[in-house]
Amino acid sequence: MQELLEQIEQKYHALGQNPETYLQGLLLSKPINYWDYIQVDTLLSLQKPRTDFQDETIFIIYHQITELVLKLIRHELEQLTTGMLPEVPVFIEKMHRLVRYTRLLSTSFSIMNQGMRYEDYNQFRLALAPASGFQSAQFRYIELHCTPLENLIPVAKKALVPADTTLEAMFQYLYWQDAGYDRATGSKTLTLSQFEERYLDSFVAMAQKMETNNLCARYMALERQGLSTDDLRSALRIFDHTFNVAWPLVHLQTAHTYLGGGQHEKAATGGSHWEKYLHPKYQQRIFFPSLWSDEERRM
Ligand code: HEM
Repeated sequence: MQELLEQIEQKYHALGQNPETYLQGLLLSKPINYWDYIQVDTLLSLQKPRTDFQDETIFIIYHQITELVLKLIRHELEQLTTGMLPEVPVFIEKMHRLVRYTRLLSTSFSIMNQGMRYEDYNQFRLALAPASGFQSAQFRYIELHCTPLENLIPVAKKALVPADTTLEAMFQYLYWQDAGYDRATGSKTLTLSQFEERYLDSFVAMAQKMETNNLCARYMALERQGLSTDDLRSALRIFDHTFNVAWPLVHLQTAHTYLGGGQHEKAATGGSHWEKYLHPKYQQRIFFPSLWSDEERRM
């Protein structure tokens, strides 16, 4: 105890503060409790349905859970892409965390796919247009942390990008433009234009920051230095597949459950041609292309 008191004294003296004031503060302060620390009341006050359909609450809460998990993913990605190149064992450990979080998203999607009344969903969603999960900025932040912009441009569009295109101008070629293009008018949908107005500047700033530090670039740097290992490559591949194939597939299945498909396809709230747009085969994204063979990419 004496040693602890001495350490406290040293700490506050070093800051030019009187340690006694802080010890008195400690004596007077209330003990922390679970509900304040976790901010439970705030968390539980954030569900605001726009209709009286009971299952809308499930829809809101599950989206909020997803946004929290996306924040966990970003939390790891920010550490992996900032400062010095990570040591390989640290890189691998963090990739395992990323895989765990992303698996949580794909395995829990049955809460959406099987967990709402079809009739409820198809009523309350009418009150949500033009909002769409497409407008999840965290989803885009994750992509920008993982891979360079050119890997987010569809193969068919790559040839259209002029050689001297600025980073900012490249955003108009990214795959997600396909979901926000109104074929009837030839202009951007409200879903996309509102999204860009709100977030495009922060996306461009992030892409600039990530240009040489994104996860793909960092992995390649380790590879060039001969430091990469099979375990690292395997963890990167599993993450790539879980984020860019497994999750998109359960998401697409869910769209089929509620919006039909083929001749019976219902318009989505964001207005995309979703059957093609959401399918990983048509809309193939790969964060770490050098880790996949041509044959694997065709699958
Ligand atoms: C019943 C549940 C759901 C259905 C039917 C559904 C449907 C769709 C559709 C049709 C799109 C295409 C854009 C559009 O036209 O609106 C889309 C995009 C998207 N949704 Fe969902 N969605 C559901 C749940 C979720 C959930 C829980 C999330 C989690 C945040 C989510 C995140 C996204 C994202 C990130 C995109 C953009 C994907 C991309 O750009 O590849 N969705 N969704």
